[in-house]
Amino acid sequence: MTTESALELRGIHKQFGAVTAIERFDLDVAPGEIVALVGDNGAGKSTLVKIISGLYQPTDGEIRLSGEPVSFRDASDARAHGVEVVYQDLALVDQQPVYMNLFLGRELTKGPLRTLDRARMARETQDLVTELDVRIPSPHATLSDLSGGQRQGIAIARATHWARGLVLMDEPTAALGVAETAKVEETILRLKARGAAVLIVSHNLEQVFRVADRVTVLRRGTQVGTRRIDEVAKNDLVAMITGLAQ
Ligand SMILES: Nc1ncnc2c1ncn2[C@@H]1O[C@H](COP(=O)(O)OP(=O)(O)OP(=O)(O)O)[C@@H](O)[C@H]1O
Ligand SMILES: [Mg+2]
Repeated sequence: MTTESALELRGIHKQFGAVTAIERFDLDVAPGEIVALVGDNGAGKSTLVKIISGLYQPTDGEIRLSGEPVSFRDASDARAHGVEVVYQDLALVDQQPVYMNLFLGRELTKGPLRTLDRARMARETQDLVTELDVRIPSPHATLSDLSGGQRQGIAIARATHWARGLVLMDEPTAALGVAETAKVEETILRLKARGAAVLIVSHNLEQVFRVADRVTVLRRGTQVGTRRIDEVAKNDLVAMITGLAQ
């Protein structure tokens, strides 16, 4: 019996005009598996995340979710298919309260006129941030009044809350302190336990070794290789990332 992959990427190629951002990328991620995507600045990691989530169209190649070929029009289309994304450049709305950001595009309503049920959204937001230990002054706080780490915490809380099949995270802890990073890593492991497939971009190799089952390396748009985390040494990974033998 073969387990169906949550995500399959086949021959993904991306060209920005004359610039080749991704030469060719192939990957399967199983339900309950965490795969780290690593590589130096400009390697193509965020581009790949944006292709999977429908922000960019691939120039060539195929994406399948649970065996079904998909081509998302945009991020909300991806979300409707159970794909949640935590972007490196945050996709939050500054002038809205925290609870509206958590329910963006999926607002709770009440009554025949379907007016926004702000009280319930705020209550559910409070429950969620308490559960994930994201410290914010209040669900009613305006997003622009939060710190970078708090905002990142909200983006992660949102993805966790809505995640179904697949979660893409682009450097989710880059802006976070030590305690917040540990919390996010716990959250990622909880997503895995729940059966979600997770693709996480990280520059932090310690983190990769802490959370990932496998790691795949991009170097200047070329996929150098994919390894099981228990079968690769940190030095080898560094050599794959930099292209320099250690
Ligand atoms: N919209 C775009 N138009 C043109 N070129 C782009 C665009 N987005 C990315 N690129 C180019 O594609 C390459 C890969 O960029 P990408 O953002 O995917 O890198 P990255 O691996 O995420 O880097 P970092 O670690 O710095 O976040 C870079 O050379 C970048 O300049
Ligand atoms: Mg990036």
